[in-house]
Amino acid sequence: MNDIKDIIEEVKSRCDIVSTISQYIELKSSGINYKGLCPFHGEKTPSFYVNESKQIYKCFGCGEGGDVINFVMKMENLDFIDAVKVLAQKYGIEINTNMDEESKKKLEKIKKFQDIHTEAARFYFSNLHTKKNSGYAYLRSRGLDNKIIKKFGLGYSLASWNSLMDYLTSKGYSNKDLIECGLLAHKKESNKIYDKFRNRVMFPIFDYRGNVIGFGGRVLDDSLPKYLNSPDTITFNKRYNLYGLNFSRKEIKNKTLILVEGYMDLISLYQYGIKNVVATLGTALTKEQGMLIKRYADNVIISYDSDEAGIKATLRAIEILSDIDINVKVLNLKDCKDPDEFIRKYGVKGYQEAIDESINQIIFRINNLKKQFNLNKDEDKVKFAKEASKIIKKVKSPVEIDYYTKYLSDLIQISIDSIKREIYGKSYNKNGNNKYQKSKYIKKDEVVIEKPKIITNGEKFVEKNLIKLMIEDKKLRDIIVLKVNDNDFLLDESKEILNWIIKNQELDKITIDKIKSLNISEEYIKDIENISLNNMSLNNVKGVDDIIKNVKKNTLNEKMNRLLKEQKEIEKNKNNSDTKEVDGKIMEIALKIVEIRRMLQKL
Ligand code: GTP
Ligand code: MN
Repeated sequence: MNDIKDIIEEVKSRCDIVSTISQYIELKSSGINYKGLCPFHGEKTPSFYVNESKQIYKCFGCGEGGDVINFVMKMENLDFIDAVKVLAQKYGIEINTNMDEESKKKLEKIKKFQDIHTEAARFYFSNLHTKKNSGYAYLRSRGLDNKIIKKFGLGYSLASWNSLMDYLTSKGYSNKDLIECGLLAHKKESNKIYDKFRNRVMFPIFDYRGNVIGFGGRVLDDSLPKYLNSPDTITFNKRYNLYGLNFSRKEIKNKTLILVEGYMDLISLYQYGIKNVVATLGTALTKEQGMLIKRYADNVIISYDSDEAGIKATLRAIEILSDIDINVKVLNLKDCKDPDEFIRKYGVKGYQEAIDESINQIIFRINNLKKQFNLNKDEDKVKFAKEASKIIKKVKSPVEIDYYTKYLSDLIQISIDSIKREIYGKSYNKNGNNKYQKSKYIKKDEVVIEKPKIITNGEKFVEKNLIKLMIEDKKLRDIIVLKVNDNDFLLDESKEILNWIIKNQELDKITIDKIKSLNISEEYIKDIENISLNNMSLNNVKGVDDIIKNVKKNTLNEKMNRLLKEQKEIEKNKNNSDTKEVDGKIMEIALKIVEIRRMLQKL
């Protein structure tokens, strides 16, 4: 990457401020912010805040503040460019500062093409607004108001063969460049050059930084082709771009993006206030677009057209997104053909409901598969069960497998056991001695904790050890309070002591008497007193880290056990009348378990 402006944008979008600052100081989540001890002035209570959504930091003690680049400048004492370089290097963004002649030429050409597109967008926009024209009438007839037309820079290409050509040549651009940009067409046989987009409404296509890099032009009636799109050029590559990302990346909540097919779908949703949306550019979703999405979101809700082609494209997009570990759900448009029609018919509330009701991709695929079979015929039922089992087989998490198996079993009234046998093959044994599961889930150095484990004294001991360390040693105490919070403990007493310590951080020495004055059982106090730290070097920070890790691990395991038990209980008491609600509850628990598993793996 050569353009310093691009590099800065790229650095800011890729280097998350929370994780960057966390590499220097300990941050704790505090409401919508993170906070910690300010690294720029000495302080004992945290007044240094980091806001993740705005990607800024601010210290209310010393007034220091800024974005991720400012932070690194100040922290590493670097000038602006060097801080950018440090971050770029850390996050694998390529910078070419010693440019050769060829790269310089390329850079100039990119800049020129960006300028051409910006000029063209201005021209189309002014056509739409300065004279009466059918383009403006068309957009209004599609329900777009002036505000949204302006926001997306929509325009109109005149019904003329040379208006854009004349305008841009008067600005000094050559026909050769304009042809390469795909704004002019060149008919070789007659050697005629003319405007490519005529009498169409024009949708400027932005890259995620907001530069105009291409156009989509729509006819004003039913004639074909409906859309003309810019060709791929040095600045525009459809594989790597998503329409609307320049806006939506600032609107993402809960790491979720909605994916639609059309420009009009996206703009309509946006106009109604659904802003975390991106659209593909009239082509099937590519892996590269998937990666671009992954930079901003962990969850995608696909909201493609409801026709055959839309379903096919949905299945393809599911494959691409799941492959890169994005959670995918699919939205149901009911009787409407596309999101544009849906939101105009059911309003933002209706669409929001559809978002909430969107279904997991596995269920979507099973439901979709079902349509190909007549489940009244036994033969079809078996075939369907086999095909659906193949879909479930790809799922990695055992709890999720359980959930989908149950769903399938309810759908076709075939027992869970038979389906599991289908998924796992002959080795499945319903008493739990499942060879397949063993080979699949317990790999060499990764042990998945499946069976509920009882908290033993060993686990309580580790926790008390950590508490004892905090009581005994001020230096360790200061480190430990930054690394744990009360959720990490199993015992209420440990939680209580930790919270008291946090409140009394200025104390140098903590006596057992002080601890006794809290609401702590005698047994606990006795255990603490009996713990001997003799064979632990208090300077061994790595050793302390290991203890912290163990404490966290134990608590997470305990939480998981409770969830597994709860799940079993629900299943045991389940009857046929309230399936949907119960299934929802089971799924909710399953997702929590998956999340805990992830956290355990990270430790
Ligand atoms: P409306 O029909 O105006 O509602 O537009 P739309 O955005 O809903 O279009 P549609 O769902 O039919 O198509 C989805 C996307 O595919 C469009 O936004 C275009 O990017 C692309 N597309 C549609 N038709 C054509 C075409 O004829 N040629 C090309 N190149 N792309 C098209
Ligand atoms: Mn449409």
